[in-house]
Amino acid sequence: MSEKTLTQMAVEVLSTADGREKTALSHKYAAEWFAARKAGNMLPVGTATPPDFPARPEKPELLDPRDVPRRKPGSEKGRLAILHAVAHIELNAVDLHWDIIARFGHVPMPPGFYDDWVKSADEESKHFNLVCDCLEGLGSFYGDLPAHAGMWRAAEDTADDLMGRLAVVPMVLEARGLDVTPNMITLFEKAKLDSVVDALKVIYAEEVGHVAYGSKWFHFLCGRDNHDPKDAFHELVRKYFPGSLKPPFNEEKRAEAGLPPDFYWPLSDQPKG
Ligand SMILES: [Fe+2]
Ligand SMILES: [Fe+2]
Repeated sequence: MSEKTLTQMAVEVLSTADGREKTALSHKYAAEWFAARKAGNMLPVGTATPPDFPARPEKPELLDPRDVPRRKPGSEKGRLAILHAVAHIELNAVDLHWDIIARFGHVPMPPGFYDDWVKSADEESKHFNLVCDCLEGLGSFYGDLPAHAGMWRAAEDTADDLMGRLAVVPMVLEARGLDVTPNMITLFEKAKLDSVVDALKVIYAEEVGHVAYGSKWFHFLCGRDNHDPKDAFHELVRKYFPGSLKPPFNEEKRAEAGLPPDFYWPLSDQPKG
């Protein structure tokens, strides 16, 4: 057992560049956190200073989203590009979940808040490795293609605002994952890539939980500070998230995750269908 605080652990994960190493450390610290919790203890949360940008491997090259080449989704190259983008999102998600722990260590929160984000970080670590295994099984690897540079933007924009972070990261960005993953699963089913389909199904099931944790703690903070949750959500997403939300929405999974339609429809550029 280490004597580290949870926020120190988070900073260590954020400061590890290699993807497989980052996710191994993430898994190790999650196991330590939950072992202590199971024994009826809790590691101290402490406070720490996370890096402005998490350490990342030399490859992939990070490009402006407009410069990332687009490929036909039905082609083999297109499928590899999708998987590569998913791996990049998962690695970013590992950092996002450790960052919410490290960045807001000074905000008093109940133990369950840390349980939820440590668990999420551990699951993202598994997702990254699953997708890397898929890429490698198809003769590629994470780092083989360029990736989006703008992924940390949401974290930067909400570095001083925990409610803003919860609104934009789990309740907008991760909820978007619920909207797009079913089509992705169909695409890989058509290509008869069973191992990829299995990996995406694991990711799809667990991502509902991450959105739900976002909604849970957002509502908790609204209740503590006497804000109307829906109004606060609209205000914070408009403040921190550029552009509008894009339907079609996965209303069923969003509901399962505690996101009612009147939270997201008013932020879309289309009338409710
Ligand atoms: Fe994930
Ligand atoms: Fe997630």
